[in-house]
Amino acid sequence: MIWGVLIFIAVPSVWAASVCLPCHPKQTEAYYRSPMGNAIGPATVVPKAEFSHAKSKTSFGVEGRVQRIERGGLSAEYPVAYRIGSGSHAEGFLVRVGEWLFQSPVAKYKRMDLWDVAPGYEAMTHPDFNRRVSGECLACHSSGSMEKLEPISCEQCHGPSQAHLLKPGRGNIQNPVRLGVEARDAVCERCHLTGEARIGYAGGESVAVYDRPREDLRVVSHVEQLALSECARQSAGKLWCGSCHQPHGEKIDVDATCRSCHASAAHGDRKECVGCHMPKRDAVDGGHTAFTDHRIQREAAKVPAKIQARLRLWREVGDAALRERNLGLASIQVGERDGVPELINDGYRRLAAVFSRWPRDADVLSGLGMVLFLKDQKKDAVKLLEAAVQARPGDAALHEKLALVRRADANLPGAMASLERSIALDPGRESAYFFLAECQATAAGREQVLKRLLRVFPQSLLAREALQGSARP
Ligand code: HEC
Ligand code: HEC
Ligand code: HEC
Ligand code: HEC
Ligand code: HEC
Ligand code: HEC
Ligand code: HEC
Repeated sequence: MIWGVLIFIAVPSVWAASVCLPCHPKQTEAYYRSPMGNAIGPATVVPKAEFSHAKSKTSFGVEGRVQRIERGGLSAEYPVAYRIGSGSHAEGFLVRVGEWLFQSPVAKYKRMDLWDVAPGYEAMTHPDFNRRVSGECLACHSSGSMEKLEPISCEQCHGPSQAHLLKPGRGNIQNPVRLGVEARDAVCERCHLTGEARIGYAGGESVAVYDRPREDLRVVSHVEQLALSECARQSAGKLWCGSCHQPHGEKIDVDATCRSCHASAAHGDRKECVGCHMPKRDAVDGGHTAFTDHRIQREAAKVPAKIQARLRLWREVGDAALRERNLGLASIQVGERDGVPELINDGYRRLAAVFSRWPRDADVLSGLGMVLFLKDQKKDAVKLLEAAVQARPGDAALHEKLALVRRADANLPGAMASLERSIALDPGRESAYFFLAECQATAAGREQVLKRLLRVFPQSLLAREALQGSARP
């Protein structure tokens, strides 16, 4: 209901802003009515609702455009700045504090019309409005700038439009269906492939995926799933997302698409195929949502193999050494995240082998340094992290990593200097304040740091709890 009202109010202004509307009214209207055209939007006005999260003894409330959090007698209220997600499965929310956007721990799930904590917050013991939204969510859900987020634009799939607007016609604007197989698939991959790690390099990014299928479905993994299907593997690029989905156009009859290739299969004359071969399943990271299994299997129960400890790059980019660099960094990142020592070691070997090519690459230096830190080789870890910080002095996260290895190396003043540098570069970096508070020798010193944090985020539950001594930062 609410959603219908929102589309009604919000859409016309977006159309008006679209330079494509006068000549392509059909595509423009259909697109801005679709979930993808509404992956971000203004805050919705909602009726009063409340729920509590047992694990953290936290209660939440929503009303109008305001969300409220309460725990142990402390509370805070935030006006919602944006809704993220169209609501076809779930709606998330973003709030603005100072110059920063934060993800709300609250989500609305369409299934069962339910309010609950957002995906990823289920196991938290101290949820708060403290997850900073950087480029990450926004690169997939929006266009525009941090100051004003806008829906995913036509250009995200059609490329730059200047030449086309000057001289409207075919041939000067990208149409995905006219591209080669890889370039065509890359249009959707940019947002529908999460992978295990994304590694940036000059002018590009490469995505690493596990070598074998994961057993579980994740919200954003349609690309990986489809690639595992025999249909995609054995049809030489003929089958792609656009075979079953139109971003703006007539809804495609998917069963007819199946029959177009399988008319002669044992039961290829049935009316319906999707219910058995593409069933709905729960996603591990999706909260209360179910998604469509794109692996198109013979029998859904026969899910092959487990996660393997080996990663590979989704598309090979650059020369052999660059690929080793990217795979090395990805292996260390995922190995640390999933606690897989083989991956960490493998990543270290790869990076060490190509180190001479990138002796001043901050990512390579800190990747190697963090592995040595894990292996308790503190002195060398400090040297590598210092070199990384020198190579990229403006990176607040790197300064915090340097603080971590310096403290392990019993250099507390050095660690505190790195944290001050980190905070100076990024005054909204909550983790650096808590770390700095932890480094203080006295209760008074600790209190002073937490009060600095409260000046930046006056409503922070975590900082107030830490001041009361009721939670460890
Ligand atoms: C002044 C009118 C006009 C405007 C404004 C305009 N277009 Fe077009 N567009 C055309 C014409 C004319 C064609 C050619 C149609 C044909 O040949 O069927 C076309 C074709 C296209 C095609 C198909 C190209 C192909 O090779 O299949 C795409 C995609 C497209 N436009 C996207 C856009 C987008 C995105 C915008 C807004 C950024 C836009 N257009 C703005 C007139 C316009
Ligand atoms: C800029 C990022 C981006 C790109 C590029 C992109 N998508 Fe999406 N897509 C999204 C997001 C975000 C959603 C979730 C929308 C929501 O909030 O429900 C989505 C949702 C969808 C959905 C489910 C909702 C619906 O409309 O049925 C389909 C299907 C889909 N995309 C297909 C595609 C295809 C096909 C391509 C390539 C031609 C593509 N997408 C390219 C970001 C993107
Ligand atoms: C790699 C691209 C990508 C990133 C990064 C990303 N999303 Fe999404 N998100 C998607 C796509 C694609 C979908 C649609 C998935 C589907 O329908 O299966 C989606 C779906 C959603 C939905 C459910 C929408 C609906 O109703 O179907 C919500 C809510 C959401 N995302 C919030 C977020 C938040 C918050 C972040 C940042 C923490 C984030 N997303 C990061 C691509 C992304
Ligand atoms: C998520 C990716 C995506 C977005 C966003 C998108 N398009 Fe498209 N567009 C496509 C694809 C894919 C095709 C090819 C459809 C086909 O032929 O099956 C296409 C085709 C077109 C065409 C050629 C005629 C047609 O309908 O096949 C026009 C015109 C067009 N798009 C305009 C737009 C406009 C205007 C917008 C923004 C309002 C837009 N598109 C946003 C993916 C996208
Ligand atoms: C572009 C052609 C194409 C389309 C469209 C297509 N498939 Fe396939 N599919 C294939 C090919 C090729 C194979 C491998 C040879 C075979 O088993 O027939 C295959 C294999 C299969 C298999 C056997 C999988 C296995 O593990 O052995 C099933 C089941 C299947 N397809 C179902 C479907 C369904 C259901 C749809 C629609 C949702 C569909 N296919 C759409 C080409 C296609
Ligand atoms: C063979 C047909 C087929 C192909 C190819 C296909 N899809 Fe789907 N997709 C479906 C069906 C069927 C649904 C369920 C639609 C529904 O419930 O209304 C779906 C649903 C989705 C959804 C909505 C969330 C969900 O999981 O239910 C997204 C997002 C999506 N597809 C993205 C993609 C992307 C990206 C690609 C290319 C990598 C792709 N699809 C390729 C058939 C296909
Ligand atoms: C009632 C559930 C059901 C429906 C509906 C269904 N299938 Fe199947 N399909 C199966 C099962 C179960 C198997 C595995 C049979 C086996 O391995 O002997 C299978 C096997 C297949 C295979 C691989 C074996 C072969 O016969 O080549 C293909 C291809 C296939 N189905 C395509 C389709 C298509 C296309 C449709 C829709 C026209 C469809 N199926 C509808 C249950 C279903």
